[in-house]
Amino acid sequence: MSQPTRILAVDDSRATLEVIKRNLVPEGYEVYTCERVSEALPLLEDYAIDLVITDYRMPQSTGMDLIRHVRANYPDTEIMMITGYPSIPGAVEAIKDGAGEYLAKPFTTEELLSAVQRIVERLMRRRVLSSGDTPPDNFGIIGSSQEMEHVFQRIGKASSTDANVLISGDSGTGKELVARAVHYNSARRASSFVPVNCTAIPDSLVESELFGHVKGAFTGAKDGRAGFFEIASGGSIFLDEIGDASPNMQAKLLRVIQSKEFSKVGSSRVHKVDTRILAATHKDLRRMVDEGTFREDLFYRINVVDIKVPPLAERGDDILVLVNHFLTKFAKAMHREAPQLTDDALAVLRGYSWPGNVRELENLIQRLVVIVDHDLIDVTDLPDAMRFCLPRAGGSNRSLAEVESEHIQRVLTSVGGNKTRAAEILGINRKTLREKLRRIDGVEGE
Ligand SMILES: Nc1ncnc2c1ncn2[C@@H]1O[C@H](COP(=O)(O)OP(=O)(O)OP(=O)(O)O)[C@@H](O)[C@H]1O
Ligand SMILES: [Mg+2]
Repeated sequence: MSQPTRILAVDDSRATLEVIKRNLVPEGYEVYTCERVSEALPLLEDYAIDLVITDYRMPQSTGMDLIRHVRANYPDTEIMMITGYPSIPGAVEAIKDGAGEYLAKPFTTEELLSAVQRIVERLMRRRVLSSGDTPPDNFGIIGSSQEMEHVFQRIGKASSTDANVLISGDSGTGKELVARAVHYNSARRASSFVPVNCTAIPDSLVESELFGHVKGAFTGAKDGRAGFFEIASGGSIFLDEIGDASPNMQAKLLRVIQSKEFSKVGSSRVHKVDTRILAATHKDLRRMVDEGTFREDLFYRINVVDIKVPPLAERGDDILVLVNHFLTKFAKAMHREAPQLTDDALAVLRGYSWPGNVRELENLIQRLVVIVDHDLIDVTDLPDAMRFCLPRAGGSNRSLAEVESEHIQRVLTSVGGNKTRAAEILGINRKTLREKLRRIDGVEGE
């Protein structure tokens, strides 16, 4: 296969370099490290580095100098900045100046890996595109079902306008991937995509997180700091879990969207907003509007273009394509041959309901690639809960009650009639199981 991705990490902290190395090398990346910008320059010159991960604050020259140098001399190299943001004012500048991604310290392994993976996928896509051998480009999102074709069309449409976008869909369906696809295919792609998790901001900090604050704005505000809207200037802000925004946050968002300007906490200076809003939710916002828990005016402001991401179970053969995609991906990371699934195992996966959608499938395949050491994955390798979901012929015109009854009986048979064990597998308590059985059979469940 092609050569491994080469990563250069520059940080004056040995410990951080160690963490980066320890996590990235097992994933198959080739990692070079150094503690100074001056040492980074010859490495860049000698090796075709694909990605530079740099700290912002370092002795002598800063991460900023390095970013400028890379931008000017190695236009194809990607940059990720690690920073103690939001406390460092210059970080904003660095991001605007070409660091594609940033990672706040301290970061988890998960955060590091997923940021690197995003960048590498972007690199790969660019390479495939420039090699002339162009596959159907679906923004790096796997799927060819009609349902997903429809999503791709909506992404294409959203990318060509500057309108705000609301992305809805169940948990794990790929909403964030869709948001990134819109941004990276829009005219704003050269500026930042800034994800904001609306559930993670305490109500008292909403204003300063969104708009920033000046030095001394409140007790403890020793330094001024930029808010998300400033960082996303020229780019897109991704308001994730918008359905969970507090009334206070909803009000602040509405105001900035309407007026297209904001002031930092502690300052009366007005800043113009040049940011596109992409929002996502797994909730039914229209219903929340009806129930009075989500502001109608805000809903209309963000829902200019809507993209609905369908549940995995409604995507037909996409499941098989995704299985292959993840098998290849995780086998490569584990340096092993990709195992295959038997037809029976595939049939089970096709018949399963996938409440956790693509994320659940991705996690399952990852687990299988890690724990199964034979080359053929069979039904017995799959988790219990899935095995009891064997698909049925002609099953699409049955009522929920019928499906439930059948499933309960199948599970019960599989555990030799042991109700305690059956209730455990079904995720309900014994009493509920007894009631359900009584309703099904009209007989005593005991
Ligand atoms: N069509 C797809 N092709 C490849 N990978 C996908 C696809 N859809 C989702 N994934 C992967 O599944 C995982 C979940 O996707 P993502 O985080 O975008 O979902 P989400 O809808 O934002 O979930 P949540 O509601 O839990 O926040 C990610 O690892 C993503 O890369
Ligand atoms: Mg998400």
